[in-house]
Amino acid sequence: MKNKKVPVCLLGAGRIGLYHEFDKKRVKPASHAGMWHKYQKTNLRAICDINIKSKKIIKKIDRNVKFFTDPSKMLDQIKPKIVSIATWKDTHFKMTMLCIKKGIKVIVLEKPLANNIKQSKELIYQIKKNKTKVIVNHRRRFDDEIIKLKKQLEQGLIGKILQVSSYYVYGLLTTGTHVIDTLRFLFKNIAGEVDHVFGFKNKFKNFSSKDDKNYDAIICFKNGLKATIQSLNMKNYDIFDFYIYGSKGKILITGIGRNILNFKIIKSPEHEGFDELQIKGKNICKSKPRKQFISLAENAVNCLYKKSAEPLCTAYDSYIDMIIINSITKSANSNSKKIKIKY
Ligand SMILES: NC(=O)c1ccc[n+]([C@@H]2O[C@H](COP(=O)([O-])OP(=O)(O)OC[C@H]3O[C@@H](n4cnc5c(N)ncnc54)[C@H](O)[C@@H]3O)[C@@H](O)[C@H]2O)c1
Repeated sequence: MKNKKVPVCLLGAGRIGLYHEFDKKRVKPASHAGMWHKYQKTNLRAICDINIKSKKIIKKIDRNVKFFTDPSKMLDQIKPKIVSIATWKDTHFKMTMLCIKKGIKVIVLEKPLANNIKQSKELIYQIKKNKTKVIVNHRRRFDDEIIKLKKQLEQGLIGKILQVSSYYVYGLLTTGTHVIDTLRFLFKNIAGEVDHVFGFKNKFKNFSSKDDKNYDAIICFKNGLKATIQSLNMKNYDIFDFYIYGSKGKILITGIGRNILNFKIIKSPEHEGFDELQIKGKNICKSKPRKQFISLAENAVNCLYKKSAEPLCTAYDSYIDMIIINSITKSANSNSKKIKIKY
């Protein structure tokens, strides 16, 4: 069995599911379909979408991939070992429950985990009960360079972490969730989990979808570390920046996460007896986008074959991100009052 390619199905062949594969600028694979097609241990057997346009498009990747419009029929006929879910966010709960019911043991699920806390709790319960491994695609957890940075920060690359600020665009749930997840990923071992948050409305009406506003926030970790999360306007430019200040230097993650710059402490060129941070940082990673989808596929196949293998981003992680997002929103709508995170 181990030498045979793992049969995989994709539910939802839209942008992240399929179309990003044809974006000339993106590093490949850039979509779920591209990932399962390209990864040497898997075989994309079928895709399902209510929009039949994807039927023609998938043939450009692989002529043998079957097309369905009914998820249940696809799972019954193909009997995949792994399923990717990249449908709209309000369908994630239904699709994941269907896959669990059909006995799928490894599911790669696009964020967010579900539509609300109630659904998320139910999913966590079913995942545990059915021993299903659900990998949520908070993609920085699959980025080799961010994983390396996490370890380096834990080993004291810039000394004690003192302050963090971060910037995002286009909705707290849609994109802010990646900021929150990355902050928790980078600092959980250093600073503990998030203890409480303060949310703020943004008066500048930065662009986002109607049901997902841009809120700003201060999130406070158990050890006292504070990280600010601030929204900007996607109509001006895209941004995903993190400024991390330590007792021995500064790290800037910039270029939508592609570049990681290290700023050392130097003697002030202007004031005697003062030290400053360098103006130009040294890029400490390959500044190209990394093949995060390949790490994701690798994690999924490991989860299938190895009992001890665990998702690099669990449903529980995604659930905690959602609790934090809800608390920020609640605080922003209650005069920015302090809200304690209940785990
Ligand atoms: N991890 C990331 O970096 C990242 C990036 C972009 C999008 N996403 C997430 O991926 C998901 C999809 O986003 P998108 O931008 O690709 O959206 P999209 O609208 O381009 O694609 C969604 C597809 O799902 C299909 N679909 C919806 N309901 C269906 C159903 N019941 N059965 C079959 N097909 C169905 C739609 O027809 C559509 O083709 C969202 O949850 C989004 O948050 C994640």
